Amino acid sequence: MPAIKIYVPRETTSVSVGADEVALAIARQAKQTGTKIQLVRNGSWGACWLEPMVEIETEGTRIAYGNMTPEDVPGLFESGLGGKHDKCLGPVNEIDYLINQDRWTFWRCGLTEALSLDDFLLHQGFNALQKAWDIGADAVIDAVTESGLRGRGGAGFPAGIKWRTVADTESDQKYIACNADEGDSGTFSDRMLMEGDPFGLIESMAIAGYAVGANKGYIYLRSEYPLTHTILSRAIKNAREAGWLGNDIQGSGFDFDIELHLGAGSYVCGEETAMLESLEGKKGIVRYKPPLPAHEGLFGKPTVVNNVVTLASVPNIVNLGGERYSGMGVNRSKGTLAFQLAGNIKRGGLVEKSFGITLRELIEGYGGGTASGRPVKAVQVGGPLGAYLPYSQLDTPLDYEAFTEIGAMIGHGGIVVFDDTADMAQQARFAMEFCAIESCGKCTPCRIGSTRGVEVIDRMINDEKRDENYDLLVELCDTMEDASLCAMGGMTPYPVRSVLRHFADDFASERKQ
Ligand SMILES: Cc1cc2nc3c(=O)[nH]c(=O)nc-3n(C[C@H](O)[C@H](O)[C@H](O)COP(=O)(O)O)c2cc1C
Ligand code: SF4
Repeated sequence: MPAIKIYVPRETTSVSVGADEVALAIARQAKQTGTKIQLVRNGSWGACWLEPMVEIETEGTRIAYGNMTPEDVPGLFESGLGGKHDKCLGPVNEIDYLINQDRWTFWRCGLTEALSLDDFLLHQGFNALQKAWDIGADAVIDAVTESGLRGRGGAGFPAGIKWRTVADTESDQKYIACNADEGDSGTFSDRMLMEGDPFGLIESMAIAGYAVGANKGYIYLRSEYPLTHTILSRAIKNAREAGWLGNDIQGSGFDFDIELHLGAGSYVCGEETAMLESLEGKKGIVRYKPPLPAHEGLFGKPTVVNNVVTLASVPNIVNLGGERYSGMGVNRSKGTLAFQLAGNIKRGGLVEKSFGITLRELIEGYGGGTASGRPVKAVQVGGPLGAYLPYSQLDTPLDYEAFTEIGAMIGHGGIVVFDDTADMAQQARFAMEFCAIESCGKCTPCRIGSTRGVEVIDRMINDEKRDENYDLLVELCDTMEDASLCAMGGMTPYPVRSVLRHFADDFASERKQ
């Protein structure tokens, strides 16, 4: 009888709620009962609230079991592996949360054994790279341009234009720098992609390198992701040993290799120029622009700086064509985004959907409302520099321009939900405090302005000359927005202003009694 395949994710969320212990209990139980199993450590499908989610493959169908504990394991074996069990969710491909997604970039996450190169190759692995070699570098850039893919790291800059700029810049050396710093609050899509489909990122970077003429790539990974570091390091090593990285990849004549670097916990090192400084071994301080990194980036050489998800969206664009991708989404927001539901939410997790879906559909539909069961009061989209949206704006479609119109941003797609017990005056204070702590210190509006901002907000909270301090805070926000060198100081006013606009009552001293 062939071994029964049992999937247990090796992914940070899952592991944090006991996936390794469940895997161990399964291995022990199999040994004790003499059952032949094949334990597969896959990535997560992204339904975090169901983790650890175990799957048992029977007759080609993968049956899922949610929130498993080691204590549940004997029962799983007694039920005949794949049979009835209290925690059975049915076939994984019938779980509502998962089946209605538009899985373009994350399609292999959860499906495959993350560190198996064979499994990757079985699931279209490196097909896009080989197609890129067939169609040529120019056609690859054309496809990326046609797709309308915009940077998923925050700024939403068109990837095709960036790639074309680097390709057209003459240089003896060019680089691909993958931004895996993922510092925004409530975000984890980069991590899930890297842990669930590490070879997918390697292939994506190789395609980018081939397209622009770079033979070296760097991944700048945040230090808070130790498991990701382990998985990525192994994947890079395996790919190199199998001839998918290094010189003359698979006899194609194309050289490309990747170095993995760990950050040291600084938020501003996610800003592309600070990241490049850090990669060069210097302090993570923001550079003046121009020159753009596409002209003079890492070590002064033309560099494509792209977010993990931006890069990982490319293989399917090469495989299926730019037009397929641009056919999804709305207006100038083409394709899909991996939205991340976090904060006070019942069903937190990753939901890859085409642009145009509303916040309400994501939060109430996928997310099931707040975990506390209380009404939603505010939603912060786009990390710590994103505006707080009130309940009345939940019907806003996820569209870069629609968000800009209401003074908000989509950023990296992190959606953090707050219920009606949240004190938004404290959240405004936190925005300034966060900036004061994380500022690189290069320019005055951010370095000094954020500290003054905390003081002004404290006076407002304490009801000292509230009107005067309100005016001062608005003026301070104007100065930071207009005169900061980068978006750290330039966008900290977004959450602050949104609190003034929508939650001004939270500054009332009576509430604090
Ligand atoms: C303060 C600050 C922090 C940032 N952090 C990140 C980050 O963690 N990851 C990321 O991909 N982009 C981050 N960005 C955006 C990058 O500067 C840059 O726009 C991005 O890496 C470009 O890649 P993309 O075009 O694929 O989005 C940050 C920007 C700022 C101003
Ligand atoms: S805005 Fe802040 S983080 Fe950006 S350069 Fe100025 S001091 Fe540094």
